[in-house]
Amino acid sequence: MAVEGVEAASRRSERGSEDAASAGTERPGRAGTGSRPADGVVEIGVIMNGVTGRMGTNQHLVRSIAAIRAEGGVDVGGGAVLWPEPVLVGRREYRLRELAEANGVERWTTDLDEVLADPDLPVYFDAQATAVRARDVKAAIAAGKHVYTEKPIAPDVETALELTRLAREAKVKNGVVQDKLFLPGLIKLRSLVESGFFGRILSVRGEFGYWVFEGPDPEGQRPSWNYRSEDGGGIVSDMFCHWRYLLDDIFGPVRTVTALGATHIPKRFDEEGRNYEATAEDAAYGIFELEDGAVVQLNSSWATRVHRDELLELHVDGTEGSAVAGLRECRIQPRAATPRATWNPDIPNPIDFRAGWLAVPGTTDHDNGFKAQWELFLRHVALEEPFRWGFLDGARGIQLAELGMRSWAERRTLEVPELAL
Ligand SMILES: NC(=O)c1ccc[n+]([C@@H]2O[C@H](COP(=O)([O-])OP(=O)(O)OC[C@H]3O[C@@H](n4cnc5c(N)ncnc54)[C@H](O)[C@@H]3O)[C@@H](O)[C@H]2O)c1
Repeated sequence: MAVEGVEAASRRSERGSEDAASAGTERPGRAGTGSRPADGVVEIGVIMNGVTGRMGTNQHLVRSIAAIRAEGGVDVGGGAVLWPEPVLVGRREYRLRELAEANGVERWTTDLDEVLADPDLPVYFDAQATAVRARDVKAAIAAGKHVYTEKPIAPDVETALELTRLAREAKVKNGVVQDKLFLPGLIKLRSLVESGFFGRILSVRGEFGYWVFEGPDPEGQRPSWNYRSEDGGGIVSDMFCHWRYLLDDIFGPVRTVTALGATHIPKRFDEEGRNYEATAEDAAYGIFELEDGAVVQLNSSWATRVHRDELLELHVDGTEGSAVAGLRECRIQPRAATPRATWNPDIPNPIDFRAGWLAVPGTTDHDNGFKAQWELFLRHVALEEPFRWGFLDGARGIQLAELGMRSWAERRTLEVPELAL
């Protein structure tokens, strides 16, 4: 849909609030977190499903869509502004109403079919729990919607490839959240790689994780389905999707995987305070070989206490220099500044190793990564601009997770074959 063609999606903005509120059970009025631009507005109706969840509320509604609206929309130049007009979809009506009112959203519904049938809503977004996503994404594609979704896009590669094929056949745009690529620390790391700072990259060691409380007091800070495999939980399917795009994109293609998972905490308490058995792994220890021979070790754990500067840190060693990158910061040590360490535990350590690293300054203010990717997807829909992270990339993440699970079960290293439709 080019800008001229977006008029169809824009029609709702001309209709006033009566029609706009029709999917809610009562008219909430406009709570107004931002001012709607008056001229050159290209309104894009976005169905947001699963928006009552942790990611749906915090990252996608509040920090992305509501934040974009609070800023007056996405300024695309030439006096044109993309204005996302969300419709909140979920299972709990009262919660949807609260969220809508708190975020200046006019329309919500518990009836997905009704909004999928609405031609004024060209985009479907899904942040539901993983296990129920594929069903609704399929329905959205069948309804001709452009689809943007949280990861993993499906529970298995076969279904992910089916969704990819369906989206292609229906000629709808598709995208998957790959937020880690937009983290300031990893943007700095990528520019170091691109500048040749490392020389030949030898290895990457990554630590991701923190302690997730078992409940009931203090209660767990992640949803309980994360710890039940029958509900789509498990840290392998959660984190290996991230590791795939992060490694492929920053360092080069992943060629093998060796993984070991563990359920360190076998019993937890759910949202209702009930004790349940954790059937999914809460830690995964992975080794990945990249095409150019670099070796990557990534530990992912919800059962570790943090003694790092950030919740994710990657330590990259190259022949010409090393770097430690986190969510926001990145520190480097070039070859010429590398201390000459020698092993002598009989004396106090003579070198302050941490002092020998330099912070990489940020060149720009980086926006929230989820918001930055939302803006690109809206531009992709409205302006036909390219969007690099489609369903096939999402399928690649699931492929790595599936192979990781198999590697763990079979206790062996597996090749990661090229994934194609
Ligand atoms: N990009 C990231 O960094 C990141 C981080 C965490 C989670 N995620 C992904 O986001 C998605 C949502 O995760 P979350 O942590 O927000 O979960 P959550 O449990 O907080 O939210 C789940 C949402 O799905 C809805 N839902 C619909 N049917 C459901 C069902 N049968 N069971 C449970 N929930 C159902 C819930 O109402 C809720 O709105 C998952 O797919 C997860 O993998 C992504």
